[in-house]
This record gives sequence, C-alpha cells and structure tokens, in this order.
Amino acid sequence: MWTGFWICSFSTKLLFFTISVVRLPGSNGDLSYTIPEEMKRGAVVGNIAKDLGMDSRGLLSRKARLDLKGTRKRFCDINVQSGEAVIAERIDREELCSSKVSCSLKYELVLEEPLELHQILVQIQDVNDNSPRFSSDEIKLEIHESAVRGTRFPLKEAHDLDVGRNGIQGYSLEKNEHFTLAVHSNADGGKRSELVLDKELDREQEQEVTLLLTATDGGTPPRSGTVPIHVTVLDANDNLPVFSQSVYKASLPENSPLGTVVLTISATDADEGANGEVTYEFSRISDRAARLFTIDKISGEVKVSGPIDFEDETEYEIGVQASDASGLASNAKIFIEITDVNDNAPVIFLKSLKNPVPENMSPGTEIGIINVQDEDSEGDRPVRCTIQPNVPFKLNPSIRNYFSLVTTSELDREQISDYNITITATDDGVTPLSSSKTIKLSVSDVNDNPPVFKHQSYSAYVTENNKPGSSVCSVTARDPDWRQNGTVFYSLLPSEVNGVPVSSYVSINGDTGVIHAVRAFDYEQFRSFKVQVVARDNGSPPLSSNVTVSVFITDENDNSPQILYPTPEGLRTNSFMTEMVPKAALSGSLVSKVIAVDADSGQNAWLSYQIVKSTDPGLFTIGLHSGEIRAQRDISESDSMKQNLVISVKDNGQPSLSTTCAVYLLISDNLAEVPELKDMSYEESNSKLTSYLIIALV
Ligand SMILES: *[C@@H]1O[C@H](CO)[C@@H](O)[C@H](O)[C@H]1NC(C)=O
Ligand SMILES: *[C@@H]1O[C@H](CO)[C@@H](O)[C@H](O)[C@H]1NC(C)=O
Ligand SMILES: *[C@@H]1O[C@H](CO)[C@@H](O)[C@H](O)[C@H]1NC(C)=O
Repeated sequence: MWTGFWICSFSTKLLFFTISVVRLPGSNGDLSYTIPEEMKRGAVVGNIAKDLGMDSRGLLSRKARLDLKGTRKRFCDINVQSGEAVIAERIDREELCSSKVSCSLKYELVLEEPLELHQILVQIQDVNDNSPRFSSDEIKLEIHESAVRGTRFPLKEAHDLDVGRNGIQGYSLEKNEHFTLAVHSNADGGKRSELVLDKELDREQEQEVTLLLTATDGGTPPRSGTVPIHVTVLDANDNLPVFSQSVYKASLPENSPLGTVVLTISATDADEGANGEVTYEFSRISDRAARLFTIDKISGEVKVSGPIDFEDETEYEIGVQASDASGLASNAKIFIEITDVNDNAPVIFLKSLKNPVPENMSPGTEIGIINVQDEDSEGDRPVRCTIQPNVPFKLNPSIRNYFSLVTTSELDREQISDYNITITATDDGVTPLSSSKTIKLSVSDVNDNPPVFKHQSYSAYVTENNKPGSSVCSVTARDPDWRQNGTVFYSLLPSEVNGVPVSSYVSINGDTGVIHAVRAFDYEQFRSFKVQVVARDNGSPPLSSNVTVSVFITDENDNSPQILYPTPEGLRTNSFMTEMVPKAALSGSLVSKVIAVDADSGQNAWLSYQIVKSTDPGLFTIGLHSGEIRAQRDISESDSMKQNLVISVKDNGQPSLSTTCAVYLLISDNLAEVPELKDMSYEESNSKLTSYLIIALV
C-alpha cells in the first residue's frame, strides 16, 4: 500500500487542497482518490493508469471508460491518452450528499479484451462554500423586566450546508450592556447559543433592546451569518417548548403518494395562553429534502410533498424547531429512511459490440459486452439475462452484472446476413420486472465460396467453315459471396490442340463467359478438341474452379467426290485409259468399275454413279452405288468397237457436289485391232492427247 500527494491551487479562493490517492489493500488494484468539491472542469483527479500500474497506451484500444453507478451524471471522465481521471462537470458536495459527512462517487473502470474492472472511489471533500444562515430574518424575544441576572434564553440555531469544520463553530454577540452569550456543543457536534442576562433590564428606561448575533463557521477563511435580535421588555415569564423526543425516526416507502403523513412531532410548553402555543418549522433542511417534505406549523405533521425516490437518496436528516409566541425555541431532529420498492426494471447497456462480424469467426468468439443495471438492487443483486432461442449466440456471465455475447457456431453470410438479437434481463423482485434490448448485428463477407459452374461439363457443336469471331457457346459460374468476392471472371487454361496453342482456336469473354472461334475450323482436319475454362472470383486470395468444354466440329459438304479409278493421273500425264471388252461378253458381265471417294462424311460422302452420256445408250449400265459397269445385253458383231461413257459421281450432301469422268471401252479380243485411238478422244476433253495408255481388264 502506498500513498501519493498532489497539491493543486484552488484558484478563486486561493486555498490549498490535498488530493490524495490510496490504493485499497486486498481489493485487486482498486483505487481511492480524495478531491475537494467544486474543482474546475478538466482538472486532474489522478492518473489512474499510473496508479494501477498499467500502460496508458493500451487504454484507447481497450476502450477504457469510467462508469458511474446509475446513469444520471458522470462528474469524472478518463482521458484515454494520458490515463488521467479528470473533472467532467461541477461537483457540488451539498447537492450530492447534503449533510452526510462522508460523500463519495463509486466508479468502475471498464477495460475490454479481456474484460477487466476496477473500482475507483472518489471521495468528495467539503469546501467552505456556504455561509451560516439563520432560518428567519430576525429573532424576537420578550423578556420580563424582573428577570434576574444569569437568566438564560436559548436562541434559534443557525445552519450551514457545509459539514465538519466548515460547519458552524461558534456564535458571537455584538457588545452591549445587558447580555452575554453562552455557546454550547450539541451531541452531534453542532453548536447552539443562549443569551445570558448580565445586567437587569428596566422597562421604564428601555422598552426594546436590539442585538446582533453572528454565527461563524470554521472554514479558512471563515464565513459568517448574522441575525438581529429584538428584545421586547415585558412583565411575564416563559417556559421553553419541550419536544417529546430529541430524535424522531420514520421509515417511508419510495413512491409514497403526496400528502402521506411521515410522522408527527410534538413539543409542549408549560406556559399558558400565547406563550404556550407552539409552532413548528424545519430549521435545517437540504434543498432536496425541502422539495419533498413539508411540516404543518400547528400540528407538527411532516408530509410528503414531492416524488420520493429511493434511487435518489436513501435517508434524510432534517432539523426541526418548536417555538412559542415569545420566540423561545428548542430543537430536535428527524430521520426519514426511504425503503426500496421494486419499481425499476433492469436496464441493459450495450458496452461494446463488434459490428459487422466476419462470417469466418470461430465459435466462441466474444463479439460484445453487455452490462445490466438495476437501480433497485443497491448492491449487486443478481439479474437474470437471457437471449432469444434459435440464434447462434449466447451470453456468458462475466464479472458482476457483465455478460459477454459470444457466438455458438459458425456464421454463414450467404445464409443469414443480419441478426436481431433480443436480450432480456429480469430482476429478482417479488413481482419481477424485466426489460429487453434488441441488438442489430450484420455478418460481413469472407471469400469462402469458389465460383461454381452451372454444368459439370459443356459441349459445343460448330459447323466447319464457320466465320472467325462467331460465338461457339457460353459458360456460366455463380459465386454467392458479396461484391468483389462474388464477381466471376473467365479465362482459358493454356493448352495445345494439335501442337497449336488453344488460344489460336478459341477465345473467351472474361466477363460474360461467351466462347468465340478465333479461326474457321475444318472438319476434315480435326473433328473435336477440348478447352479448360477457369472461373475465378475477385477475392484476395481469389478462389477458382474449372470446367471442360468439348468442341465438336460438324461436317459440311465442302468436298466434291474424288475419282480414284479411272485414275485422274492419266489426265495429268495426258494419257487415256482404255478398257478392253471381250467381243463375247454376255449381258450382265462386269466390264469396268469407277472408284471414287469423298473427304466428307455421312450423307456428304455417300456417293452415287450415273452414266450421263454414252456412245451406245442401252449397251452398258452402272451400279448406282457400286460404280460397277456391266453389259446390259450380249455384245454383238454389229456393235461399234469404240464405246465411250461419261460418268457422273455425286455425293448426297445438301446441296450435292459431283464430278464426272470418262471411261473408254474397246470391244475387242486382240490388242492389235486397236484402232487409231486418237479418234476416240472425247470432244469434251479439252486436252490435246498425244500418247495412249491401254490397260487390259482381265
Ligand atoms: C430486424 O428487425 C427489423 C425491424 O426492427 C426488421 O425490419 C428486420 O427484418 C429484422 N431482421 C431480421 C433478420 O429478422
Ligand atoms: C471479401 O472477403 C475478404 C476476406 O476473404 C474480406 O476481407 C472483404 O471485406 C470481403 N469483401 C467484401 C466486399 O465483403
Ligand atoms: C481443375 O479442377 C480440378 C478439380 O475440380 C482440380 O483438381 C485442378 O487442379 C483444377 N485445375 C486447375 C489448373 O486449376
């Protein structure tokens, strides 16, 4: 335990006060400061961080703050930069604690992450800022001229709102020839005075004596208050009013209705007539109590005249005075204790909240701190705090009436992005009161979903000879994340098709996923290829997935039939091919065969053969699909020896393509009979034939 002292000058009154700090032993670092009331705003109470042995640099990040029990006023704040507690608003000890000798403010220093609480007690010392006051403007006394020397006349007390040394310390009387003053101490430390007759009065000489009574407090410098005493010199004698009790006590439930009689005081005076008529008044009362209680001058009933709130003040101490008509008075005290009624529902304060919370927080993470206060529960009576079911959050009781709000499972923004969390606090009154508070919480996005393609794979069919730039197909991937975390871009995975980069075949629009052909395709070159498309989101780091797009090229009838036999070679080498047909060939015998192919496929390559021109129509036929040339009847002597056929070969495409070829037949058994082949040249053949090739079909 240690104690430090600061001295600060109190500007207007040029007084010196001591601010002291005390570290309370055994109470986990809790502190106590003592400061004078009425310090200026911004004045430093003490360095809390230093006094608790903490580093002030952590205060801001741990959201350090001073909480005063109850919420009406703050009075002090913590400066999170320096760690100092400073005055935030005027502290008037008399307003705060009225006549209580000990006056203090109980703070909690709250730090978060982790939650840490320290009790800080700020004790308010009285400053002599109130002067003694008498309850009336003058004191009237009626004294019989026969009163003997030494007769005493008790006087009304003055009162001073300050306490202790700053309360009333003495009385003095202006110098005069008849009276002196006797000053006595009361049991409670206050002072009262009596006039003492020093020299007998003579009504014939003086009907009235005026004196000045001064009450002085013990402040530095002292303050004082005065009242004139008017003494009327009479012929009668008096008795003092006497209270039935020196102290009256009553207990009053808060919220008692106006007009409720709290208690009745009574004093009796032995005198007869006006001298025995007692009237009552409050002699010392705080401003607050004066707003709540009245006294009936005649009956002595003390009644409620304002709202009684246990949470404002739990007891009142009021001085009362009974006076008789000739101004003799006596004093007593009343204590009114206010009893608590469960009239306050607990109040839920959200001390901190992480909002929004990222969806990937692990279960059990603390996201907020809640404090529940119940003004009825003077100390720390338990308050039950619950959360609505079916939300992934719970409340963990922490220090005192603090609860931490934690997650119970993982959050998924893509499923639920906002929560309304309703917290209900219930006190333990006989008829419990409760209140609830709804906290709005948003879940913020984390890039936890990769783009997902709509289909597991894609197939595209493109007819060959397509236009470069034409679209082939389009792929789509969806990503449920938020904004850039869910924005999808498409690209091609580099690869090769037939040794050529795939990018020279197709390209993809990064935003739309539409795939375009870069060049024209040739079915006869290749019939299909595969492309890998990657969909990537814009998160950091990005997530991606890929899909295979198979591109199938479909055939178009872009190739004419090609004659393999009779070989076109013959044409190129300027030679003809001639088939020999035996003279004895019978009807139906095979004389030759045209062989043709088509580079296309399917119908586009399904060939049919037709004789379009012949020397002797009716002598030869050709198989429609076989290309076989056969004699249609027996060959006779009369048939011409040279027979020429023009054959058309046609595919079945839409539209179809065709080629023609010529077949030269020679009906002969002997090669020697071959005539001038030159004559056989077909008119349509535009070549000048200079050589002959004769092939015998055996
Ligand atoms: C939360 O409450 C507000 C109104 O207070 C309502 O508009 C909103 O739909 C609620 N949200 C959820 C997730 O229940
Ligand atoms: C995207 O996710 C990251 C974490 O993966 C997060 O930090 C960021 O805030 C998210 N963006 C949006 C727009 O929510
Ligand atoms: C494509 O996706 C598969 C599984 O979906 C993954 O194994 C592979 O690594 C991905 N390829 C690239 C290049 O991203």
